[in-house]
Amino acid sequence: MISVAIDGPAGAGKSSISRIAAKKLGFIYVDTGALYRAVGLKFALSGADTSLDCDIDGILSETAVDIRFVNGEQRVFLDGEDVSDKIRTPKASMMASAVSARPQVRAFLLEMQRKLARENNVIMDGRDIGTVVLPDADVKIYLTASAEIRAERRLKELLEKGQQVTYDEVYRDMVKRDYDDMHREIAPLKKAEDAVTADTSALDFDKSVELILEIVKRETEKQ
Ligand code: DC
Repeated sequence: MISVAIDGPAGAGKSSISRIAAKKLGFIYVDTGALYRAVGLKFALSGADTSLDCDIDGILSETAVDIRFVNGEQRVFLDGEDVSDKIRTPKASMMASAVSARPQVRAFLLEMQRKLARENNVIMDGRDIGTVVLPDADVKIYLTASAEIRAERRLKELLEKGQQVTYDEVYRDMVKRDYDDMHREIAPLKKAEDAVTADTSALDFDKSVELILEIVKRETEKQ
């Protein structure tokens, strides 16, 4: 099995680029952020806020997160309900980042991610895929872009979904979330030593996909 690990900050285009690159390669695409978002939603539904002043183990013991592929597209289920669309709000992003800093939550989701990579050719994206989840991945990419460009892209996405947000709010949330993701104690976002950096600041979407495919080809041919 071949695994491609793609890590990087929020809004770098990891999901949209990985989805198309995986289609072209005939691999499955696993968006691990969606798993943390589903857990974040569970905590929000249990009445918690980002301080997570609650019984984390107790809530996790009553939580079931599951990934299914419908027509090749990943859907995420929380306690049997498809929450794939519900988890795409600014509040869900902040809750996901908060729960992701907790070791129990990371342990809860780890084996599911490794199993998917054992059983399929995958492009898996997240924050710690090349460093923790799949340290032996065949290809590791650190996908990034400038904060301003990432905020612009994320704003466009949210506005297209009809959400009421401003550039300043998106930029502020994104910078805070990146800071928290990079500075948490456990599995922080960082470039794996053997990862190739792909900066898409100056690239449009198609060129970004091409760049990823080129890196995958080059790195797998080396082996
Ligand atoms: O990729 P995303 O924006 O959907 O991720 C949401 C949050 O989940 C992100 O702020 C940090 C966390 N996350 C993580 O800690 N590890 C991963 N592999 C993926 C996401």
